[in-house]
Amino acid sequence: MFREKYSKELNNPQMLDYGVYLQCDKLLSCQKPLAELSTHDELQFQLVHQVEELWMKQIIFTLIDVLEKIQLNKSIPILSQMRRVHMIQRLMIQQLDLLETMSPKEYQQIRLQLGNGSGQESPGFVTLLKMPKDIWQLFEKHYLHERKQTVQDIYDEQFSHCDAYAVAEALIEFDELMQKFRWDHMFLIRRSIGINSNSLKGRPVEVLQNGARQQFFPELWDVRSQMSDTWGQEYGKVRDSISKKK
Ligand code: HEM
Repeated sequence: MFREKYSKELNNPQMLDYGVYLQCDKLLSCQKPLAELSTHDELQFQLVHQVEELWMKQIIFTLIDVLEKIQLNKSIPILSQMRRVHMIQRLMIQQLDLLETMSPKEYQQIRLQLGNGSGQESPGFVTLLKMPKDIWQLFEKHYLHERKQTVQDIYDEQFSHCDAYAVAEALIEFDELMQKFRWDHMFLIRRSIGINSNSLKGRPVEVLQNGARQQFFPELWDVRSQMSDTWGQEYGKVRDSISKKK
């Protein structure tokens, strides 16, 4: 009775200016009507996915601006836009936790509703996977080649905490947060579907582990190990102890 009562109210919102501007009528009808949900947790399942798609739309839109700004060497706007991207990425990771409140049985009931749908088909994620290639090409051209410097220079040989270094760190943070999203998503799968079960697109553990290992800006990761090797050569593998004990 309450479900019907409040469902009706939600689905016929009063269209004052707030609702008109935000298109609340359309927004609130993007989910199954409450009366048709297969299980209590299905609304949350749909909403978390929809919200994540919206956040990815915002990230993509922000990264388009970043691509334009890289071509103009506008480092300060790039850094502030990337800060926004990182905040959204953290929100996206946090939101996955909500789905860990769902019982494995309820997930099985929801799964029957999904057809052949898989996160691999997420329009936002598929687009996001393509963007780092363009970002790296522009970063190389405008921050490295045109300035006649290498990644090694800005991180080590000529390190001065310059704008190229700050932008590179913003890129690696994006990369790290993409990987963290993928690892956290694997824990979510462990909690709901189980990591060794057969998924719609093959065994999830393989599909997902390959993805979680993907590095978008390998040059920025590699420079750290190269530095450790180079610096390490100076004092050799075994260093002098700094404790007084012999
Ligand atoms: C209980 C909730 C979830 C389960 C059980 C689940 C399950 C899976 C599985 C099994 C895969 C592997 C591909 C496949 O076989 O279909 C996958 C991939 C994926 N899922 Fe989920 N998922 C859940 C929630 C989410 C949420 C909330 C998002 C948010 C966007 C998401 C986004 C993705 C993405 C982007 C991939 C592709 C990952 C990659 O290529 O590394 N999933 N999911």
